[in-house]
Amino acid sequence: MVVGAGVIGASIADALADRGVSVTVLDMRGPARGATQASAGILAPYLEAHDHPALLDLTSRSLSLYPAFMEKLAAADVPVEFARTGTLEVALDDEEARRLQGMKAWLDARGVEAEWLDSSALGEREPTVHPSARGGLFIAAHGFVRARALVAALVAHAKMSGAIFEMPVEAASVESSRDAAVVRADDRRYEADAVVVAAGSWSKRVRVANVAALPMRPVRGQLLHLTWTDGELPRRVIWGPRCYAVPWSDRSLLVGATMEDVGFDEEPTVAGVQAMTTAASSLFPAAASARIEAIRVGLRPKLPDELPAIGRYARAPRVIAASGHYRNGVLLTPLTAALVSGLLVDGVEDPVLAQISPDRFER
Ligand code: GLY
Repeated sequence: MVVGAGVIGASIADALADRGVSVTVLDMRGPARGATQASAGILAPYLEAHDHPALLDLTSRSLSLYPAFMEKLAAADVPVEFARTGTLEVALDDEEARRLQGMKAWLDARGVEAEWLDSSALGEREPTVHPSARGGLFIAAHGFVRARALVAALVAHAKMSGAIFEMPVEAASVESSRDAAVVRADDRRYEADAVVVAAGSWSKRVRVANVAALPMRPVRGQLLHLTWTDGELPRRVIWGPRCYAVPWSDRSLLVGATMEDVGFDEEPTVAGVQAMTTAASSLFPAAASARIEAIRVGLRPKLPDELPAIGRYARAPRVIAASGHYRNGVLLTPLTAALVSGLLVDGVEDPVLAQISPDRFER
């Protein structure tokens, strides 16, 4: 049984069903209705995790799994936009330009392909960026995937292998006994051989008997879904000092995202929209005439060390955590699905699980 039908829960259910396991997924709302629906789907370990070596290892490993992961999903026949068109991090002042040139040296030393573009090269490569920009750092290995479409494909693919999705059903507690794990949800009781708790920020609210709740905090992100009306759309993911932008082939541009410690509040605010529109306009002059299609809000599940919690609880061995993916849930999806299905189906304890164990906060 999997609790949570976001990108993490759906990918685990799919990986298990694909291996012949009988899987039921519960979600209190529906597929991709939590943090996933507000995700821009950026796949960029060297941008997101360059200052966090353990996270960089996890995210770069997961990125390397993406092509095969997407290829397998093609059988579901649900179109999912997935592009490895690189990222361009833009410097709007000289200090940023120096920092990015230092970053290029750091990437060169690690054998990661990166290219520094001065102001005029940047203008040619990405004419939508403000002409006063001082330059940009292009990292070819990066890309993006449309997160909600990805979950739709994962759900369809998992169903093809027999997975069952029951929703809305809110799991309240899980107990692990010698013979079975028991989930109590609303007025129902389910038994399973194992239960994976993949409910993002809400994982903390699913009580696991004998185990302390994970020290998780939701971090709100507000993201604008724009429709580009004025000329050419940015050609790839653009990362600026105060926002990032992801272009979809249908002329949408996602601009995100705020970082707010406001508990479980999923409402958009004037301040959030203002911060994103101001940041987008300073990066792209044409943003002023873009249409606001939607404001999306998600709660990122953050643990104190900014690493996810994946693996069995020693004191509840039929319960497996798979949450706390914070800013990188979509990027970490293929690795998380592989780690959890490897653990449950093959009994393989990948060495990385020691570092991301859900028990690490009790020590
Ligand atoms: N990874 C981008 C964000 O969390 O906003």
